[in-house]
Amino acid sequence: MSIDGYLDSATDERLLLSNDADLDRVDAVRATCDAILVGAATVRNDNPRLLVRSQARRDERVARGLAPSPIKVTLTCGAKLDARANFFVTGDTDKLVYCASATVAEARDRLGSVATVVDGGQPVSMRRISEDLYARGVRRLMVEGGGMVLTQLLTDDLADELHLVIAPFFVGDSQARRFVGDGRFPWNQDRRAALAEARAIDDVVLLRYALSTRFRMD
Ligand SMILES: NC(=O)c1ccc[n+]([C@@H]2O[C@H](COP(=O)([O-])OP(=O)(O)OC[C@H]3O[C@@H](n4cnc5c(N)ncnc54)[C@H](OP(=O)(O)O)[C@@H]3O)[C@@H](O)[C@H]2O)c1
Repeated sequence: MSIDGYLDSATDERLLLSNDADLDRVDAVRATCDAILVGAATVRNDNPRLLVRSQARRDERVARGLAPSPIKVTLTCGAKLDARANFFVTGDTDKLVYCASATVAEARDRLGSVATVVDGGQPVSMRRISEDLYARGVRRLMVEGGGMVLTQLLTDDLADELHLVIAPFFVGDSQARRFVGDGRFPWNQDRRAALAEARAIDDVVLLRYALSTRFRMD
């Protein structure tokens, strides 16, 4: 996020917050995960591939009997996703779409050939997603945003660890998407999160918070 807590600008153009060294760190974290989740708005706005970029890391995963990149996961109410998006067409890995019950049929029509559409309930709950992913063998899930998804994950107290990276500039536009929206977060002045690490990575800063007893320092 920016110094003033934004994940993006309010314009259509994608805002680059990370630097190369941090993107490489994120790639290393991705390679250790079983699945990566982003919200449908991020799939639409950013058109991310969500793959492990480094060939060495992909090879290392394959040598461990895994797919080159983690399973890709998204969630949607409206099911307005394009089957030609990079999320669906890139990477030799499973793609899961958790969809609100009311639009499952529409989602299967549109995306059934490129992804597995799962009825996520009405509304879709992050807890239900995490339990379903667990049943599918996912033990380590990386949630890369955006703000709406992060807000639910954190307010539902489902995250074990938070990696907060601060880029050295301001966005200064309240129309832009913040890191999180309003909500009742489990961490407040009476229950402070544990800071596990603070590290400068070139011109950005990584703050790692331990949010549950499952957190392990690596
Ligand atoms: N800086 C970063 O690290 C970073 C990372 C990721 C994203 N971003 C930015 O964040 C922005 C998007 O963030 P955002 O907060 O607007 O959106 P988001 O969290 O990416 O996605 C929100 C969408 O996800 C679906 N969704 C969320 N919760 C749901 C639920 N409980 N049940 C069913 N569907 C649910 C809905 O999709 P439908 O509308 O399809 O129903 C909703 O509109 C983008 O501009 C992107 O650039 C930044």
